[in-house]
Amino acid sequence: MKALQIVKYGEIKEGLSLNEIDKPSIKSNDILVEVKAASLNPIDYKMVEGKLKDMISLKLPSTIGFDLSGVVVEKGADVKNFEIGDEIYSRVPQEQMGTVAEFVAVNSEFAALKPDNITFEQASGLPLTGLTAIQALEKVGIKENDRILIHAGSGGVGSFAVQYAKAKGAIVYTTTSTSNVDWVKALGADRVIDYKTEDYKEIANNLDIVFDTLGDDYTFDAFEIIKDGGRVTTIVGPPDEETAKQMGMQDYKLPEKLAKLIKDKSAEYKLTWMQPNAEQLKEIATMVEDRAIKPIVDLIYSLEDGIDAYEYLASGKAKGKVIISLS
Ligand SMILES: NC(=O)c1ccc[n+]([C@@H]2O[C@H](COP(=O)([O-])OP(=O)(O)OC[C@H]3O[C@@H](n4cnc5c(N)ncnc54)[C@H](OP(=O)(O)O)[C@@H]3O)[C@@H](O)[C@H]2O)c1
Repeated sequence: MKALQIVKYGEIKEGLSLNEIDKPSIKSNDILVEVKAASLNPIDYKMVEGKLKDMISLKLPSTIGFDLSGVVVEKGADVKNFEIGDEIYSRVPQEQMGTVAEFVAVNSEFAALKPDNITFEQASGLPLTGLTAIQALEKVGIKENDRILIHAGSGGVGSFAVQYAKAKGAIVYTTTSTSNVDWVKALGADRVIDYKTEDYKEIANNLDIVFDTLGDDYTFDAFEIIKDGGRVTTIVGPPDEETAKQMGMQDYKLPEKLAKLIKDKSAEYKLTWMQPNAEQLKEIATMVEDRAIKPIVDLIYSLEDGIDAYEYLASGKAKGKVIISLS
């Protein structure tokens, strides 16, 4: 079968190769999925670039990708929750990474039936970004009437987070560049801030929550615009101490600058490192079927053009999700 593989660390063009490899075999708790679509995420190209080498060690060549939708074509002896022919979607666990391929073995505990009112391409874009947004927003207890700024409302995570926060009854501010303003407004955000022409800190302040999807100075600057006792939830900033311990960093201490900002604002600060979760995939499917969340697909590529797809995603300009279709 064909699979897009990381063959060496470095530039995306040299680091990826479309290879012919053996079809995977399944364990007793796995389903074998014929992949119909796989979505791309920044973690994938960060792995190609070698930026996550210390956290995730790969034996190269290694098939790329964490998100898929497809059809169950085989199941292990212990699989009770799926039948052959079921249409599923999944963010596969790390040890089963490799969704940009014709077939993938997936632990059935991490899959769910795909929402039945959307295409395979749309469904494949939901797991990693949807789970990330839900886990990051629930970690700081988002609730009705919370005033929240979600950075990068046009990104994969941001476009889901805006819709999820609105479904929870929050008052949502989000940032994007000029050409994305109109369609991001249509996601339901109360105020879309064009970061090319407006200063987000002047418009969104005294907030209950900032969702930091950008990192670097954006993480620190979030404390300027939350109210006393506000919450900052990040997916790219430094870990909070509790999360660091869960990630195995036993001696980790918060950077001094961050510790001071948290103390001065009596703030809550949390990093989310997304975990695959089938119950939350079912929740996402229900929200999509109820039309509370709509999947946002930017470009769809063929498997043969997978390297171009990753180069486009890595440009940082994707409007929603970038997908590889194998249908
Ligand atoms: N911790 C975790 O578990 C976890 C999980 C998922 C993702 N992440 C990380 O979270 C980040 C976001 O992921 P993603 O999938 O949403 O990325 P993405 O889809 O590639 O984000 C692209 C979007 O970012 C927007 N953007 C870029 N610079 C911006 C700025 N200064 N202000 C506002 N918007 C800006 C772009 O909009 P414009 O073109 O309009 O600028 C574009 O629409 C990545 O670094 C990813 O690795 C972490």
